[in-house]
Amino acid sequence: MLKKITVAVSSILLLAACGAGGGDDAAGDDGTITMGFAQVGAESGWRTANTKSVQEAAKAAGIDLKFSDAQQKQENQIKAIRSYVQQKVDVIAFSPVVETGWDTVLLEAKRANIPVILTDRAIDSEDTSLYETFLGSDFVEEGNKAAQWLLDNTTGAQKVVELQGTTGAAPAIDRKKGFEEVIASRPDIEIVASQTGDFTRSGGKQVMEAFLRSTPDIDVVYAHNDDMGLGAIEAIRAAGKVPGKDITIITVDAVKAGMEALAAGEINFIVECNPLLGEQLMDLAKKVVAGEEVPARVVTEEGTFTQEQAKAALPDRQY
Ligand code: AHR
Repeated sequence: MLKKITVAVSSILLLAACGAGGGDDAAGDDGTITMGFAQVGAESGWRTANTKSVQEAAKAAGIDLKFSDAQQKQENQIKAIRSYVQQKVDVIAFSPVVETGWDTVLLEAKRANIPVILTDRAIDSEDTSLYETFLGSDFVEEGNKAAQWLLDNTTGAQKVVELQGTTGAAPAIDRKKGFEEVIASRPDIEIVASQTGDFTRSGGKQVMEAFLRSTPDIDVVYAHNDDMGLGAIEAIRAAGKVPGKDITIITVDAVKAGMEALAAGEINFIVECNPLLGEQLMDLAKKVVAGEEVPARVVTEEGTFTQEQAKAALPDRQY
């Protein structure tokens, strides 16, 4: 039976003591693959859906999943990966909280002959031999789409405030880059303030409150995820303004709560980021453990939603 273990830093040693798998073998004696999965945290609706997808897909694929929650701290993820190496799991998968600082621990996994799969977020390392493949979205493209909608749906000067994701995280870096690339063609669109809200609703609310105090006449909020956008909506309402009308709101993810706000007219446009990566991850894991070739990059397919499209999609939305 699938063992689900949620680890805080303190319980990582406990995990290490549980032992399973074997980095030098293709899989356990009975053929069961053991995967160590080091998740970022539980910061957003997207992350909750992603965790559920990974856990359900592991169960369906008959993969023994060891799961840890790093609470958005890189040191916790490093400890979790190290514990998976000690336990000699068959494969390690993780979604890196930030882009840099992984080489040492991934070299330990490589020396132990344990393949690593990056899922959702990439790392910034020159040594691509440290991982087998990267499964996830094109975050630059998501930023491009968000900005393109703004270009296509506004005329005249636009003062934009940006709610960034976690500092140093791939989606924060790339969604900013992608947005800036496209607005460069419209000099009258300007990012007048930009700060991290750490991908959380409370972070988005707090930063938006500060923006509303410090920056007059905000036209647009560009939030790197729905949760921060939902926090911004609370702040905008509390300031006596109407979200989606007085201030245009663009977000990324398309989780249910975001889609409901979009359908209700409080968000104006959402770029989709698909969290349902579990099934593809388990397929890749099986191939990697069997020594089969896998593509170096697997890009998730995703779309965008207007208010009308959100209304149509909501009844069937899974997450
Ligand atoms: O890495 C994916 C991002 O992480 C999601 O867009 C955001 O909601 C999450 O926290």
